[in-house]
Amino acid sequence: MIVEGTWRRAIEVSGTDVVVLDQTALPHAVRWLTLRTLADAARAIRDMQIRGAPLIGATAAYGVAIALREGRSLAEACETLAATRPTAVNLRWALARMRDCRDADAAFATAAQICEDDVACCEAIGRHGLALIERAAARDRPVRILTHCNAGWLATVDWGTALAPIYRAHDAGIPVEVWVDETRPRNQGLLTAWELAQHGVPHTVIADNAGGHLMQRGQVDACIVGTDRTTAAGDVCNKIGTYLKALAAHDTGVAFYVAAPSPSIDWTIARGADIPIEERAAAEVRRITGLHGGEPAELDLVGAATPVANPAFDVTPARLVTALITERGTCAASPAGLRALFPEQAPGGADRA
Ligand code: MRU
Repeated sequence: MIVEGTWRRAIEVSGTDVVVLDQTALPHAVRWLTLRTLADAARAIRDMQIRGAPLIGATAAYGVAIALREGRSLAEACETLAATRPTAVNLRWALARMRDCRDADAAFATAAQICEDDVACCEAIGRHGLALIERAAARDRPVRILTHCNAGWLATVDWGTALAPIYRAHDAGIPVEVWVDETRPRNQGLLTAWELAQHGVPHTVIADNAGGHLMQRGQVDACIVGTDRTTAAGDVCNKIGTYLKALAAHDTGVAFYVAAPSPSIDWTIARGADIPIEERAAAEVRRITGLHGGEPAELDLVGAATPVANPAFDVTPARLVTALITERGTCAASPAGLRALFPEQAPGGADRA
């Protein structure tokens, strides 16, 4: 996608180096990081220099390749990377695809293929989601879409998932405006605002608690969010706060769409309650980062004596999801809906595929 006027990807290979955009420096600074060791790749995922389920998978794949090039074993690489973050199922999916790599060359080739597949997947989600935006389009005003967290190109290799239909609509000349949830405590909404601005898509950042009010006032035509893990029954795990948006959308009759590429679908479980929810450091809630006098600064928000909890994800039950937008089309958030698009995933389905 567009970074300072140049088409870039969130992860790239230049020569023998794997390069990623450091998302902890955004939106205030564009800083590219070179991953040279297994430890670099694991840290980039754990400390969220890269984040977003698809990009976590792609970075882990390159982490395996880098580790094999370092002379480490496949087992050590997969174990180290698997331990970085528990919720996004793309991590497990990507490591499973790397398990047959016998050497670094094979691993780099497989990682590159995972990236190309991700781009194709997101492009397809963009096309299928565009149809939903076209349906919501009104003659006299832009389509107003609310999104939570960042499920844009910064969270994937390119195009994004939830934001891909928005980019497609904008590029097709359909006026769209985006309500961007700030998404405390790590403010991924500011990443969304940054990448929308790079692409020229009109948007407004709102406090996380403002979305329900805007829906009540008829100022939201649809919500589109991403997912870190969607179950085979359509329960959706995504950034903390997504469930509250789904409840408000349900209560106000606003469509609630989830962009769900198949690597983010966990075909082994049905119940959302079985998804491991990452609990991150209290410091992410206690402190806030930004610019002060043009310089990066961190401020204490919550006193050290005050207990803090920081669950990073929540689960939206399938009943609150209007439709899933996958690379194979849109479907109901239900076992039947998903099976219709992914027959090979149904029990005994492989031979029916
Ligand atoms: O903690 P993060 O920033 O990795 O959480 C990211 C999200 O919740 C995204 O919505 C999800 O990974 C989908 S990204 C296409």
